[in-house]
Amino acid sequence: MSLPVTSMPIILIFDEIEDFIRNANKEMFISHHFKKRDRLLVQPRGGFPTYKKMFELYEEFMKADIDVLPLTIDSNTRLNDYAMAQKMLTLSEENEMDMLNGYPLVNHGYRTTRKMMTHFNKPVSLRHGTPDARLLVETALASGIFEIEGGPITYMLPYSKNFPLDKAFLYWKYVDKVCALYSTLNEPINRESFGPLTATLVPPCIVIVIQLIEMLLSIEEGVKSFSVSFSQNGSMMQDIVTSHVLKKLAREYADMFSGSDAIINLVYHQWMGAFPRDKNLSDSLINTNTVIAAMVRADKIIIKTRDEAFGIPTMQCNAQSVANTKYTLRTLKGLPVVHDAEEEENLELEVRAIMDAVFNDPADTLWRKVFNTIKNGLIDVPFSPHIINHNEVITIRDESGNIRIIEKGKLPLPDRCFAYEKSKVNLPESKTEVINKIIHDIGAML
Ligand code: 5AD
Repeated sequence: MSLPVTSMPIILIFDEIEDFIRNANKEMFISHHFKKRDRLLVQPRGGFPTYKKMFELYEEFMKADIDVLPLTIDSNTRLNDYAMAQKMLTLSEENEMDMLNGYPLVNHGYRTTRKMMTHFNKPVSLRHGTPDARLLVETALASGIFEIEGGPITYMLPYSKNFPLDKAFLYWKYVDKVCALYSTLNEPINRESFGPLTATLVPPCIVIVIQLIEMLLSIEEGVKSFSVSFSQNGSMMQDIVTSHVLKKLAREYADMFSGSDAIINLVYHQWMGAFPRDKNLSDSLINTNTVIAAMVRADKIIIKTRDEAFGIPTMQCNAQSVANTKYTLRTLKGLPVVHDAEEEENLELEVRAIMDAVFNDPADTLWRKVFNTIKNGLIDVPFSPHIINHNEVITIRDESGNIRIIEKGKLPLPDRCFAYEKSKVNLPESKTEVINKIIHDIGAML
């Protein structure tokens, strides 16, 4: 691995890091909290360039009785440009102005960052979007951050145009292996996949397939605690159906791949598409999302703020959002368990058909099978900017807001399932009208 360019050379003292993790307080491990299954954990996003401001943000969150602290990483670090991150960090420190959109963890280093993490003694989640996260993740673990988000598909297809996908698989294999090794020292390190993908009319079958694949790739390396996730998609029923199928199949496939000792958690993201500019409407959207998170029996909710349409939220606004979400959850009692057998059956059949296509690829390892499946368009993420993605699948909303597939591209959907999808929508006559409806459906919450 090439060394990053920072003001100081980065040297990881592995024995010391092992000792630190072995003796770390269990409170810092989200997997420890997940095991209890006693409440829906609330987690915002958040990252500022300087140590001082990051510390202040955490103080605000603590006042709001937060469950899981976030550490959002800046874009330069995500692209492994540690030299630029350093430049912008220095400018931020000198000018009291934020020149980065997150915390440049590699530049701050683990000795400094660990002080903050042990001070607050809370589980922290690493939020980034990095195809090559090897050094970032090692620095995070050494800092006391024991939940790592991301994966080779979910941190590539929504974010990157031409980063080589095969490299991403290998880099994430390394990350999973490191997480698995450190998992043997204390409570397990939790890995989390990023289900929202492009957050743009992605059909549930694609979301679930990619969640299952990233879970299996992690389990293959020895990860023992994994969170599958998805985001609000615009129909409460479809979210509920998605949650049932995702939970059922995650357990089934994990067990099938020698992961019966792995704990699987469900994470729900509040709406990941465009937010209204009216902050009162944003509050309303956020509250509805919290209700759905409770309905789908999520283990963790990742929240938004009323500042979403305007950029990075102020720390006060972010903390207020935590407090509001916790309040909404406290007031929600006696939620019904809802099922829709027909929808669940259809979605399950779709997912199984695509998973079968992955396993039937002739390549010799799981990651190569998945690579080929994406390359051949059997997995296809709507609106992905990546050159490898086929972009042949077209989706639209039905009258109840469900995302339905109207062009399946090369998705290996059973005829019966595709017919079911199409039977749910009445398409407008002209192509222009269809396109206008799709644009409207993308911005469903505006
Ligand atoms: N602080 C808080 N939220 C952030 N997001 C991105 N960077 C930060 C940050 N530094 C949020 C965006 C969006 C989501 C993908 O992450 O507002 O909601």
